[in-house]
Amino acid sequence: MTLSKLRQKYQPVLPQILSQLEAIFFEKSEQLPIQAEIKKLFPKISEQCVVVAKKGIAQKFPALKVGAVFSGGQAPGGHNVLTGLFDALQLLNSKAKLIGFLDGPGGVLAGKWIELNSTTLLPYRNQGGFDLLGSGRTKIETDEQLRKTLKTAQDLDLDGLVVIGGDDSNTNAAFIAEYFLQHGCKTKVIGVPKTIDGDLQSQYVEISFGFDTATKIYSELIGNIGKDALSAKKYYHFIKLMGRSASHITLECALKTHPNLTLISEERHTLMEITLKIADLVEQRAELGKQYGVILIPEGLIEHMPEMSGLMKELKKSAENLSPESQAVWEMLPDRVRQQLLLERDPHGNVNLSAVETELVLIEAVTKELKKRKFKGKFAPLAHFFGYEGRAGFPTNFDANYCYSLGHTAALLIAHGFTGCMTFVQHLTKSAKEWSIGGVPLASQLILREQKKPVIVKTYVDLKGRPYGRLQKHGAKWALEDDYQCPGPTQFFGEPAVVDSIPLILQ
Ligand code: FBP
Repeated sequence: MTLSKLRQKYQPVLPQILSQLEAIFFEKSEQLPIQAEIKKLFPKISEQCVVVAKKGIAQKFPALKVGAVFSGGQAPGGHNVLTGLFDALQLLNSKAKLIGFLDGPGGVLAGKWIELNSTTLLPYRNQGGFDLLGSGRTKIETDEQLRKTLKTAQDLDLDGLVVIGGDDSNTNAAFIAEYFLQHGCKTKVIGVPKTIDGDLQSQYVEISFGFDTATKIYSELIGNIGKDALSAKKYYHFIKLMGRSASHITLECALKTHPNLTLISEERHTLMEITLKIADLVEQRAELGKQYGVILIPEGLIEHMPEMSGLMKELKKSAENLSPESQAVWEMLPDRVRQQLLLERDPHGNVNLSAVETELVLIEAVTKELKKRKFKGKFAPLAHFFGYEGRAGFPTNFDANYCYSLGHTAALLIAHGFTGCMTFVQHLTKSAKEWSIGGVPLASQLILREQKKPVIVKTYVDLKGRPYGRLQKHGAKWALEDDYQCPGPTQFFGEPAVVDSIPLILQ
């Protein structure tokens, strides 16, 4: 028996409210504020308000035909959104059908799909990855793309389309939902909050799925490195962590593992300030006889350095004719990193920060600084990047339960005729049985970005929030007194406090 086979048998825990699906109704809750410009661009979906599931009287439902698509980077639990969606649709009417679009939004445009049933879904229950369908980052916004999406929905006679994605993907969902309504298309469009980055958060969406699993995987590795550092006492480990722009992943991992230094992009320090901070740490630790350490670096750090953000904006237009300030920064960067900054951006205009070796930039800068200070001790840095290894692992119990509930919620919202909203499951710090579910209008999450482009708002680490406050409170102690924590591998069987634990930033 393999772990994979055993996990297939795990029955995700559902909130009590989902115990009788046919008896659920959605109660209108508050009308969230929507920007005037967004209302103009999305007049139809802007009419929605927040809806919350309540128990009512059982009713019959027609057999629905629903399509689902994975969009963007992998996040553990995606397959459970599909199984949750399928099981709920079947419970509402056993003749219901679920279509899975292949290779992301591009598969919707091209009409590439497969039908999913209990046999095809069985090996994917509670498993990581998005490999059943694949994923992609195609942006859907032009008229041509929206027309193709409409054609696919009409050809397949879909009652619903579920977009499982992050901020960019849910922006796609908003465009599609509005277009469908304006063209009298019956297909309801529902977004599901996915991303290991954890930056899709709001009053209703407490955390995106995948964050819990990914941070547990990274924390296991960081904890092991801490132990190694303490045993060998000879290396400085510079660990870059995924999470494109916001530093939620790094903050969560820091709270779990207690490294010597945690850099948080949202602090917006310059490269020089960060360099001096690390050099000071190396010197202070050397005075204590410690020539080793663990430093966490969020992937987005480079983008948030004030001098770098200007350069990156200019590079978006052209690498020629940089302003004198940006040219100076450009010349400071290692050759390799310059090449990495010029790599092709994704269709949403994002720089591929996973490929940019920020850890090398810091190592080089700190080495120079220590030389300048005539540092007599030893400084042997090692660079690591933990990213892709965390995105497709077995979902934790939390993510397995959460995603299965999100899938059920998407099915119910479609069955009750809602469109242009994102599923939410709330009260995640309570036991899964006590969670509540509903839908929040996508329009209320949209803002206008550069060049007046609408996007779902990203949430950054709140420098006044309690999780960051905790890091601040303990940071000085963790810097000098080694307090490395070793959380170990994710557990699926045993002590509930361990197997059902939830992200620290939620607690
Ligand atoms: P999503 O926002 O689509 O969930 O993707 C997040 C992410 O995992 C980031 O953390 C990372 O920067 C990026 O994807 C990597 O993208 P790619 O998979 O295209 O290399």
